[in-house]
Amino acid sequence: MKFYVLTLFTDMIKDGLSHSIIKRACDEGIISIETIDIRDFAKNKHRHVDDYPYGGGAGMVMQAQPVYDAYMSIKHKLSENCPVVYMTPQGKTFDQRKAESLSKLEDMVILCGHYEGIDERVIEEIVTDEVSIGDFVLTGGELAAMTVIDAVARLIPGVLNKEESFMDESFTDNLLEYPQYTRPAEFMGRKVPDVLLSGHHKNIEKWRKEQAYERTLKKRPDLLSKK
Ligand code: ADE
Repeated sequence: MKFYVLTLFTDMIKDGLSHSIIKRACDEGIISIETIDIRDFAKNKHRHVDDYPYGGGAGMVMQAQPVYDAYMSIKHKLSENCPVVYMTPQGKTFDQRKAESLSKLEDMVILCGHYEGIDERVIEEIVTDEVSIGDFVLTGGELAAMTVIDAVARLIPGVLNKEESFMDESFTDNLLEYPQYTRPAEFMGRKVPDVLLSGHHKNIEKWRKEQAYERTLKKRPDLLSKK
């Protein structure tokens, strides 16, 4: 899958996603992440890409033209139905289901805003989806874009290896993950539950299922009502 990120802070995206599993997936060519610097498309000698808002008010607004030109510079590489996702707290809240549907695509473009937002006309012209990562306001869309890329990329076949596999994880089937333990069998007087040391696979599976329900009921009862 190819990710294209339109941003004023290309290093933030490149640095943030050049570690661990995502780096390995890029190195192996399973995914690619291309950043496009919106500032490269400024037409003035100071490379400004923002201006004062019409109607007044605080802050600056990103201008339509550099954003549009940045998008047009990659348009020829995109698949026919490639979505253009604008990261904004006004968007629909991102969740595992959205990650799953995006992970099935060939490519996606992510647009990151800064300042007080982006001129509405270019949003109307190029954006297909508005996505938020939660009800809080970030200084820009980059951290949100990285969150989306990470969550989507790990669902693409081959990105996780067998050990990292995501079969039993949180939110699959709207349940949280059961508790995990590793050696030693006792830590600060706390013992690993006996069933996990029993070697009885059926009982272990049953215990894990019960734990998943119990935890979800305790920590995220809202998820159970979705089931
Ligand atoms: N940009 C600023 N805040 C954001 C949020 N909560 N989600 C997505 N993009 C954002």
